[in-house]
Amino acid sequence: MAEITLRNLGHSYLPGPKSEDDYALKPVDLVWEDGKTYALLGPSGCGKTTMLNIISGLLHPSDGQLLFDGQDVTHKGTSERNIAQVFQFPVIYTTKSVRRNLAFPLECRKWDPKKIAARVAEVSEMLDLDDILDMPARQLSADQKQLISLGRGLVRDDVSAVLLDEPLTVIDPQMKFALRRKLRQINRHTGTTMILVTHDQSEAMSFADEVVVMKDGRVQQSGRPEQLFERPENTFVGYFIGSPPINLFDVDVQHDNLHCPALALTGLRRGSFEEGALKIGVRPEHIRVTEPKGTGATAMVEACENLGIEQILSLRAANGELFKVKSRLRQKIAVGRPLAVSVAEKDVLVFQDGKLV
Ligand SMILES: Nc1ncnc2c1ncn2[C@@H]1O[C@H](COP(=O)(O)OP(=O)(O)OP(=O)(O)O)[C@@H](O)[C@H]1O
Ligand SMILES: [Mg+2]
Repeated sequence: MAEITLRNLGHSYLPGPKSEDDYALKPVDLVWEDGKTYALLGPSGCGKTTMLNIISGLLHPSDGQLLFDGQDVTHKGTSERNIAQVFQFPVIYTTKSVRRNLAFPLECRKWDPKKIAARVAEVSEMLDLDDILDMPARQLSADQKQLISLGRGLVRDDVSAVLLDEPLTVIDPQMKFALRRKLRQINRHTGTTMILVTHDQSEAMSFADEVVVMKDGRVQQSGRPEQLFERPENTFVGYFIGSPPINLFDVDVQHDNLHCPALALTGLRRGSFEEGALKIGVRPEHIRVTEPKGTGATAMVEACENLGIEQILSLRAANGELFKVKSRLRQKIAVGRPLAVSVAEKDVLVFQDGKLV
């Protein structure tokens, strides 16, 4: 196991990059601590695979350094890094049995046959493969093949980290959930650092101790799931994390005070702000709806989506702005009726030019 440090590490697939736009991964400083679970989260093309392939050594970065436990491995090959990587689509030997597929990474490292058999049995039990161990891999379903691929990634207990590049995409949702839990259990049990690439925020938030959010080749924010939820550093993270995403409201600046007409909030924060560049962000979970009682902001219910234990309300504020509220209100809410809306000041985030201030 190792602590993995990215030091001003960036990559351009172009020879002689001229500007930041030429970088698939813009130079970044980041530390992946030993033994934690991480998710690398962002939309398609934001540079997730590029970063992962640099860590595993499949790709050499154009800029910066990569350190494992303080040792520079930037120019070392894959075999010297001791990383296990699992890809989006299964990489297995279809002519070999499941057992031989699992054993192969250990045979290559000349493990003792007894130790191999014991370790294969352990991984097989972990991933529920006991019933198919002696079947040829080509007879398996896509799900099962990916499980073998995952097993091959997990079978070595001496790796610096396990890198998982969207390995759950081909697996059906029910099993996905169980596998994610299993991966976490394995991490708790073995202490192996795991980095899971995904573009699914709920997968990232439920899997990882820390989530790294990327966009356009740039790391936007890195932190614990609740930090990303409570204090998104910019509106992109606010929008990408959470479902529904964060609400953004217009703001007036009067005598250096901020006012939010939609929620009838006044005197929010003092400071010299430029009006046009300001927005207020409030999570749908943080807006309270109650029966209207004279004062305070009200909004009209435009739609109500029942999610079983929660409802998502679409509300139209008096100034015309539309926003969403996630509410645990039990009774059915009629469309077209007004509701009082309120929010605690601690849950109000102020963004200037898209950045949290
Ligand atoms: N071999 C390559 N040569 C040139 N450009 C590449 C290469 N691989 C990736 N890119 C470009 O680099 C950027 C980042 O790609 P990358 O595959 O790292 O994104 P990603 O976040 O993994 O996307 P996805 O979610 O679709 O897998 C994209 O603009 C992509 O087109
Ligand atoms: Mg990718």
